[in-house]
Amino acid sequence: MRNVIRLLFVHLPLLSLVAATRQRQLPTREGIKWLREERSALVRLDIPELPLWNTEEQIGEDQPSALIFNFTLSHDNRILALNGIPILPLENAYVPPRLFAYQTSETLTQFENDTIADYNNCPLFFLDYSRIVPQAEDGFQQFYNYTPSLNLDILGASIAGYNALLPADNQRFIRLTLHQVEPRSTPISLLSFKIADIYLEDRGPNNQFKSPESLKPCTAWSWLCPDKPAYPWYQYIYRQNFDEYGRIGSMRHLIHMKWATLIEVYGVAQVAIISSAVGIVILSLIGYGIYRVFKRAQELWQKRLGDIDAWTADEEIGGLLDDEEEEEEGDNYVGKDVVEMEDWTGNADAEKPLPPPPVPPPVPPKAGEPSRS
Ligand SMILES: *[C@@H]1O[C@H](CO)[C@@H](O)[C@H](O)[C@H]1NC(C)=O
Ligand SMILES: *[C@@H]1O[C@H](CO)[C@@H](O)[C@H](O)[C@H]1NC(C)=O
Repeated sequence: MRNVIRLLFVHLPLLSLVAATRQRQLPTREGIKWLREERSALVRLDIPELPLWNTEEQIGEDQPSALIFNFTLSHDNRILALNGIPILPLENAYVPPRLFAYQTSETLTQFENDTIADYNNCPLFFLDYSRIVPQAEDGFQQFYNYTPSLNLDILGASIAGYNALLPADNQRFIRLTLHQVEPRSTPISLLSFKIADIYLEDRGPNNQFKSPESLKPCTAWSWLCPDKPAYPWYQYIYRQNFDEYGRIGSMRHLIHMKWATLIEVYGVAQVAIISSAVGIVILSLIGYGIYRVFKRAQELWQKRLGDIDAWTADEEIGGLLDDEEEEEEGDNYVGKDVVEMEDWTGNADAEKPLPPPPVPPPVPPKAGEPSRS
């Protein structure tokens, strides 16, 4: 059996690592039980540092235990779910899924050789985990052949307020590989899958445990506080770092939370009205700003044109004036007249002879109808 496994994994670069560190175990398919060929499987993962939870007494007992993972493809075979929660592809990468698993005291032999136990009465643990899909998951990318594998490492588990980090070197992680069913170069969004392989692998130097403290601190200076620069951004999913709005502390989280709070306090309709009102005000301000800038530019431009006109006029005083120039002078003259009249209407200038007022003075109220009262 060992030899078979060794042959099967000869192509893995990990083998050299295994050879280097002798005490490390080979990847194994022990603890995998297929419920439906290529569609659904139960995985039993030993968790050396997790005490066996005694539900009646609500304490952890110092006994070996394992967690049970149910990997099942959806009916259309497009989504891989773990215990009913979509895990590949993700529903929403900004808010990674909360995973849970049942704990069992079954030994490997019992798990493999007994009939399937009903785990629904077993202690239910909520999980911190590391999730990596080495091949890009981005649905916009094109692949000749899409065979994503999911590496799932359990970093922590909690039940009833009891919380355990799980850094043990001899804990394994789950590696599950999907194969596309459709012909090559079908867009990822249209693909359906089969589960090609599942095995358990030792945590090596490349998959070391990372505690929550060793992660980069998250501040509002970062939009996402990602673990890696590309989709799906987050690898280490500690529950304390995420809530329903995403990565706690990030700018994106802040905005989504504030927005949700607004809607909770004021209701959708009111927030829509307020935000559209604010939007209109902001747009008006922007519009007014643009208008002012435009106006100012126009003024400057006209001033410049005026300067040039004055300059050319100066140049042309020496008898270079032509008919066009004279016409313009005529225009200017009319303009001046208008200006003077405006001056007159504005302030009563006594020195100049007053032309007759253009409009008859307003009729005093007395001269109209006497009154109705
Ligand atoms: C595994 O999960 C699938 C889908 O979530 C469910 O239908 C099935 O009953 C589960 N099997 C076990 C043994 O938990
Ligand atoms: C399951 O039982 C068979 C014989 O019935 C045995 O050979 C095998 O080793 C058992 N499985 C495990 C994991 O011990």
